[in-house]
Amino acid sequence: MNQMARDIVAKLTLEQKAALCLGGDFWHTAAVKGDGEAGGVEPVTLSDGPHGLRRQTGTFFDPTEPATCFPTASCLAASWDPDLIRETGAALGVEARAQDVAVVLGPGVNIKRSPLCGRNFEYFAEDPVLAGRLAAAMVEGIQSQHVGACLKHFAANNQETDRMRVSADVDDRTLREIYLPAFEHVVTSSGPWAIMTSYNCLNGRYTSQNEWLLTQLLRDEWGFSGMVVSDWGAVHDRVAALQAGTDLEMPPNHGISDKAIIGAVQSGVVAEAVLDESAARVVDLVLRSRDRQPASQDTDAHHALARRVAAESMVLLKNENAVLPLAAEPLTIAVVGERYPAFQGGGSSQVNPVTTDDPVAELAAALPSATFTDDPGSADVIVAFLGFEQGTESEGRDRTDIDLPEEQTELLAQLSGRAPIVAVLCTGSVVRTSTWGIYARAIVHAGLAGEAAGGAIADVLTGKVNPSGKLAETIPLRLRDCPSYLNFPGEESHVRYAEGVFVGYRGFDASGLEVAYPFGHGLSYTTFGYTDLAANGRTISCTVTNTGDRPGAEVVQLYIGDPVSRVHRPPRELKGFAKVRLDPGASERVTFQLTDRDLSYWSTTFARWVLEPGEFSVEIGSSSRDIRLTTTINIDAPMPRPTLTPMSTVREWLEDHAGRDRLTAMIKQITGEDPIDFDALADFIGDFPLSTLAPMQIPGITPAVLATLEAPTPATPATPA
Ligand code: GLC
Repeated sequence: MNQMARDIVAKLTLEQKAALCLGGDFWHTAAVKGDGEAGGVEPVTLSDGPHGLRRQTGTFFDPTEPATCFPTASCLAASWDPDLIRETGAALGVEARAQDVAVVLGPGVNIKRSPLCGRNFEYFAEDPVLAGRLAAAMVEGIQSQHVGACLKHFAANNQETDRMRVSADVDDRTLREIYLPAFEHVVTSSGPWAIMTSYNCLNGRYTSQNEWLLTQLLRDEWGFSGMVVSDWGAVHDRVAALQAGTDLEMPPNHGISDKAIIGAVQSGVVAEAVLDESAARVVDLVLRSRDRQPASQDTDAHHALARRVAAESMVLLKNENAVLPLAAEPLTIAVVGERYPAFQGGGSSQVNPVTTDDPVAELAAALPSATFTDDPGSADVIVAFLGFEQGTESEGRDRTDIDLPEEQTELLAQLSGRAPIVAVLCTGSVVRTSTWGIYARAIVHAGLAGEAAGGAIADVLTGKVNPSGKLAETIPLRLRDCPSYLNFPGEESHVRYAEGVFVGYRGFDASGLEVAYPFGHGLSYTTFGYTDLAANGRTISCTVTNTGDRPGAEVVQLYIGDPVSRVHRPPRELKGFAKVRLDPGASERVTFQLTDRDLSYWSTTFARWVLEPGEFSVEIGSSSRDIRLTTTINIDAPMPRPTLTPMSTVREWLEDHAGRDRLTAMIKQITGEDPIDFDALADFIGDFPLSTLAPMQIPGITPAVLATLEAPTPATPATPA
């Protein structure tokens, strides 16, 4: 933090410091007038939203300032391209400069626990590595313009149902391995200026008032030095939130929260130093904003960028008999379905776009010799735009099913058997394809692709852009196959994350379930070969070759698995990816470096990351289920063992060299007798804690022996298997 921030705060009154910890109004931090030596602090503007500015200058119901509507996060994620997302973030930052916005309220990086979550379009992936790397790129892009990014919603905000109260009941391992790592990666690698607490409770405590989350974890463990802002309306007890680490309450509860803070400091409930630190973080953000320079909003260039990014993010799910790309020769094309498909979701992220493409007009422009009709009967090919009406996918509500509108799937059934159908899916979260996919010769998952979706779709359908997107969320055959199905959205203000770490492909793979299209899936108009996999210690490399006849890009995915472990681990977990662009016949060597953390799991026994010794599977895939190369690596590490106490089981005492020796010695020393042959009884008493054996009259296990064992016995690190 800039020392100047602390110096400014040191000269402020208690009232001024309290005022800084609330917004000045709905979209601004507070202004503090300087007097005498105390420097003034000007207000700065915070504005949504993750995929385009939603600068509100009028009332809540007035249109917001026009801005470029980029593809939403779920669409961007399918590009698996951090560089592209960084470029998008930079453009967003330029528009923030043009509109005098200091902080963009995004990206949202919550994990897609269920396809039903209404805000999945605003989030990146079902996998924390992919979500973290892409969100970090977005933050870096925005902040390259001296505009702050505000990572959200911290944490475990994975549904909209009852979102202001529901408690996400998540065990530590699941939290650490699934719902926190994306936040952790962004905080530790890209330094967001701000992070937004979510509305929900985490294990019964509001995140805005959760000291473990906001101070012990976020600041003490991860080293976050930015500002914590509440989601709008997420503070229920401002003093508790201040103590936990929420620096700024939005929107401000003037006359209530400020008075509560002042009272708490005056009564000694809150040390003034705590208030000073929070006020200083708000001032620090204002000072950082002073480096921001105005900019002009080049809407044409940003529209072109939005189109390029969208096209790079579209996923070719299916392409039977190479019906795509559409030929340039005279074609009669029938367009059916949603005439103006959705290109963004509803709620606080909804942008007032500068302009929007008409997909049919763009297709016509791209195929000047084509004839368009709305009569599928004459047509050479049928292009069906599928998806929901604008706003169906929205903040504030979850879906109850993952089906397309019935009239759309019925239409496809009626049209099947006529001209080949090319389905274009314009949805933010996944929809079921198994009930209608058979009718379509090709399926392009376009996503909610922003204001230039129409042009991007035309670019992909005509082959001007060779699709290279990969699914960042599994498309299941049925909703009920989803790991979270039985525990979503919970009841009575509790939602149990009972599936644990088995979220998305982790769950489908662990259950051996078939899916419609797997995580990481995406076809191309060319093909790619994978060869020469090498594992040199933790360095994994392979060669990818464009074996087709047109340039294309491939996302090479690295998955690891630990089939033999103290805990149940998913069959494979994404630990690296790289997007390579290759001309026909060209090859590239791709290299990944695995770290201890990549190979570890979070142990609730040891309350830390644990790397177990043994053999790990290493898979290189074109998707999580299109594994092209496999090998194994052997990890040499001490097997962690819990410290032994009388509550440790007989089996744990006997398995540990030091434990077995100490138990034997204590029995001999105190009872004067040799211990019984515990190994012979291990099947029967092996899982008994030692302390339960005293009343069982097991020879040698006397209260005196147990009393000497109260002093924990340091475990012997087992030599690697
Ligand atoms: C909302 C959203 C949050 C948004 C904020 C300001 O309710 O949850 O994502 O940034 O309010 O609009």
